[in-house]
Amino acid sequence: MRNTTRTRSRARLRLAGTLAAVLVAAGVATGPAAHAGQGHGTPLTLARLAEQHGRYFGSATDNPELTDSAYTALLGSEFDMITPGNGMKWYATEPQQGVYDWSQGDEIVRLARQHHQRIRAHTLVWHSQLPDWLTGRDWTADELRSVLKKHILAEVRHYRGKVYSWDVVNEAFNEDGTYRETVFYKTLGPGYIADALRWAHRADPHAKLYLNDYNIEAVGPKSDAYYALAKDLKARGVPLDGVGLQAHLALQYGYPATLEDNLRRFSRLGLDTALTEVDVRMLLPADEAKLATQAQWYADLTTACLAVRRCVGLTVWDYTDRYSWIPAFFPGEGAALPWDERLAPKPAYFAIREALGGR
Ligand code: XIL
Repeated sequence: MRNTTRTRSRARLRLAGTLAAVLVAAGVATGPAAHAGQGHGTPLTLARLAEQHGRYFGSATDNPELTDSAYTALLGSEFDMITPGNGMKWYATEPQQGVYDWSQGDEIVRLARQHHQRIRAHTLVWHSQLPDWLTGRDWTADELRSVLKKHILAEVRHYRGKVYSWDVVNEAFNEDGTYRETVFYKTLGPGYIADALRWAHRADPHAKLYLNDYNIEAVGPKSDAYYALAKDLKARGVPLDGVGLQAHLALQYGYPATLEDNLRRFSRLGLDTALTEVDVRMLLPADEAKLATQAQWYADLTTACLAVRRCVGLTVWDYTDRYSWIPAFFPGEGAALPWDERLAPKPAYFAIREALGGR
């Protein structure tokens, strides 16, 4: 019964996809953007433009912001992929051992579905934002393996069929390419990564399973570590579908010029890639020159993804400076996103549009 429904809706999706492709080819706006009143003379959304290249354009969001209706209007119309910024993390979903709380993730999934948006789910295994019951005591390997397995199976089962992908393991490596000494690594050894991927795959065989990290945009020791790990996991038949490059960039550190080559080498391993948490911060105050450079960087990131066949899309780590995480985490820095604090589009927004072939 359930399977028939799923097969039917998949067939309907295929049909809708074909229809959309024909309409896109004919220059007619379709999908959520069309419903949101994108008619003649109205520019296509970033999502529609990205879809014309077979990519998505996503944004992270977070539950407290969802009461801001001007914010949710743009979130619902401009993007076709949503990442919950916090609501699916371990501290939020299993606040007490064995007691699950899906409310925040569910709220975002519901909102996304209303707007025909898909979900990049984030994240199952990470050293940060863990619940106190987990960090507050020592675990034997057997205990921690069982805790990790239960958490992954419960969460991935809960969202089974509702999400496009999972960031299964987040930030597993140090800058020099050695394993980060997290509680998981120290207690279970490097095998926790393959285990996590296998458990996630068991719980939702259709979700795309990712490893995700920052500072792996350029070719270097840290991205080399991912390359080696991904190659090894693939060779061993571990279910890994993609590598997510967070792309939290900062003007003062320079643009990762080898990004495109880096994306391409993962493609050649048979993996998808995605830019998963894009923002381009700067030392405040912002000025015209910095905003222009930032715009160029956003365009370059977009162009790099379009140039590599298996780069599936870009997600900005929220879309407006009103809700960016940067000022709180990098004091003195900010203005990192394509829309400003008043929800007005910045030069970066127009540069992304142009890179996506929009006028
Ligand atoms: C950030 C959130 O945006 C903040 O609200 C939270 O306080 C801390 O985490 N890399 C990641 C994301 O993988 O989960 C982080 O999100 C940003 C860095």
